[in-house]
Amino acid sequence: MPTTRVALATCSVLPDLDPDDAPLLGALADRGVEAVAAVWDDPDVDWASFDLVVVRSTWDYSQRRDDYIAWARTVPHLANDAEVLAWNIDKYYLKTFGEMGLPIVRTLWLDPDRHLTSQAIHTRLPAHGDYVIKPTVSSGARDTARYQENTAQARGQAILHARDLLRSGRHVMVQPYLNQIDVVGETGLIFLDGKFSHAVRKNAMLTRGHRPTQGLYQEEVMRSTDASEAELALGQRALEAVHTILGDIATDLLYARVDIVPGDDGDPILLELELTEPSLFLGKSEGALDRFADAIVARATAK
Ligand SMILES: Nc1ncnc2c1ncn2[C@@H]1O[C@H](COP(=O)(O)OP(=O)(O)O)[C@@H](O)[C@H]1O
Ligand SMILES: [Mg+2]
Repeated sequence: MPTTRVALATCSVLPDLDPDDAPLLGALADRGVEAVAAVWDDPDVDWASFDLVVVRSTWDYSQRRDDYIAWARTVPHLANDAEVLAWNIDKYYLKTFGEMGLPIVRTLWLDPDRHLTSQAIHTRLPAHGDYVIKPTVSSGARDTARYQENTAQARGQAILHARDLLRSGRHVMVQPYLNQIDVVGETGLIFLDGKFSHAVRKNAMLTRGHRPTQGLYQEEVMRSTDASEAELALGQRALEAVHTILGDIATDLLYARVDIVPGDDGDPILLELELTEPSLFLGKSEGALDRFADAIVARATAK
């Protein structure tokens, strides 16, 4: 029988994968699988030669979304599926979730095609409370910033930030800042092979006065945690909603991360559903690396 071959897709800045994913290579080798890291936009990679390509640290696509999706569609055996990625890469999916009754952050969506003036942006920013401005296509908190209510300086910076994103053709989200994130942080629920695996707690990333990050990603402070019943229920609901929207390609996704922050009343709110290239924090939970490696092998050999 020929050797099963798996590629873990990454970006050129991290050719040897993110340190959290790198141990997967050894875990797959232990299972008799030939596993390599491969850079998604490297023209020399023969993607069709792999039994499975698993998307991992491909974190440099936010301004090359079309190229990235085009690449995903050329890979014969990709997990998650290219159409799941194409749908999930743009946070407009949160709008659909909101319409389906899931608790999401109240969001104002700004469309670059409307060519909003600075004054028009100004009138759309919240009058009370801190708020966040971010592009709909982004990862690792890139181009994301928090603004303080009612200081003229913050308002000026916020308008420039939104305007620059819109001028470069990007869609923009304006959200109230969820203050509970400063108190309890953000919970990430990690699902492997469609089943809940483990949870992590991440500190708030946006301090007041912090400028939008342009780097590959912003460093995260993370620890392992227990998920509450309410958080788990919301995670399941989000995955069921994806299934309703996308059908069979979203059955038992190889990996998923559901990011949750409490609202002011303490009830969980969905901040993001990451089905594209989430950090999975495999090192933060006993057995997670083995569970993921087993799931990858099962898929790579299932054909
Ligand atoms: N409305 C918000 N309230 C509080 N913090 C936010 C809000 N939106 C984003 N953040 C912070 O910014 C980080 C990145 O935003 P997120 O929506 O998760 O986008 P991505 O991770 O894709 O860059 C979050 O992990 C969180 O710390
Ligand atoms: Mg996030």
